[in-house]
Amino acid sequence: MNKYKIVLLAGDGIGPEISDVSKKVLKKLSKKHNFDIEIIEKLFGGIAYEKYRNPAPDETLDQCKKSDAVLLACVGDIKYDSLAREFRPESGLLKLRSALNLFANIRPVKIRKSLIDASTLKKEIVENVDLIVVRELIGGIYFGKPRGHISNTEIPKAFNTMVYDSAEIERITEIAIKIAHQRNKKICSVDKSNVLEVSQLWRDTVLKSTSKHKNLSLSNMYVDNAAMQLIRDPSQFDVILTSNLFGDILSDLAAMLTGSIGMLPSASLNNNGPGVFEPVHGSAPDIAGKNIANPIAMLLSASMMLKIGLNEEEAAESLENAVDKVLSKGYRTADLANSFSEVLSCSEIGEKIIEEI
Ligand code: IPM
Ligand code: MG
Repeated sequence: MNKYKIVLLAGDGIGPEISDVSKKVLKKLSKKHNFDIEIIEKLFGGIAYEKYRNPAPDETLDQCKKSDAVLLACVGDIKYDSLAREFRPESGLLKLRSALNLFANIRPVKIRKSLIDASTLKKEIVENVDLIVVRELIGGIYFGKPRGHISNTEIPKAFNTMVYDSAEIERITEIAIKIAHQRNKKICSVDKSNVLEVSQLWRDTVLKSTSKHKNLSLSNMYVDNAAMQLIRDPSQFDVILTSNLFGDILSDLAAMLTGSIGMLPSASLNNNGPGVFEPVHGSAPDIAGKNIANPIAMLLSASMMLKIGLNEEEAAESLENAVDKVLSKGYRTADLANSFSEVLSCSEIGEKIIEEI
């Protein structure tokens, strides 16, 4: 029997509620598909700050490094917004990504047939959407130096640096190429090379790396146009390859094509070593503790973990199918409800999914 050790980071806000559902679902899947999964829970985010004055304690990071995969719920709360930057939950997240060298962030956006009416866009615009955002995750303006405040100026001044070297661009391009080969072989690289030097290097490097693959089609798009195209005609995209900041913005935008950010999973990967699998959504402190959050994005993240991180493809598939069955029977959490659906709580929808597995 295959044995896995995963770290579960429940984090803040709705994190513990959706993690609870995920734990139960993973247990059920391990029984059905005959593998053993040890789930080690560690503090991370605001809750870790409360206890250790550190949102990403070394002990948590060490445990993650030793695991087969990390399943993360979500972190953050407005109450931490006034802390010095290093203490904030978001900084913990960046530290985790960089400690595990997770340079590749994969965010699939696919419309589930049963949820087509949840989108704010017209059905015919979104019905064929099936794209993946491949976002560089540990470089660019998020990590670029120098950064900071300049204190001796007349008016307050602050600055950040958007920087990439060609090796960082090459390795994320290789990931996009690999994914494109498993799909429709179309990569759209998004940059702002009409204005930024760093984007010109991005564009030149992507062109060079992809030119060896004659069966791939590469297009380039400026980020402002890409934002517009994602709303105008999102099904033109297959793989969107982009840098850290642009990927952050475009992935939220793409997420909304599906109607609820509560549906989208992501994987953050390295070429070797454990990946982090987490929903795209945040910690939703306004609904925390009410048992009304949508656990599906975290479950679909767990499914990505099973498939990519643990090679348990069948279990991943059975989870996806269970989610689809529950949704097609009309069960919904409040964020997705329409007049035909039966609204269930976070734990109840979890139970329904477990029944279908
Ligand atoms: C995301 C989030 C994070 C990011 C924040 C919470 C630091 O928005 O994963 O998209 O900007 O990368
Ligand atoms: Mg984001």
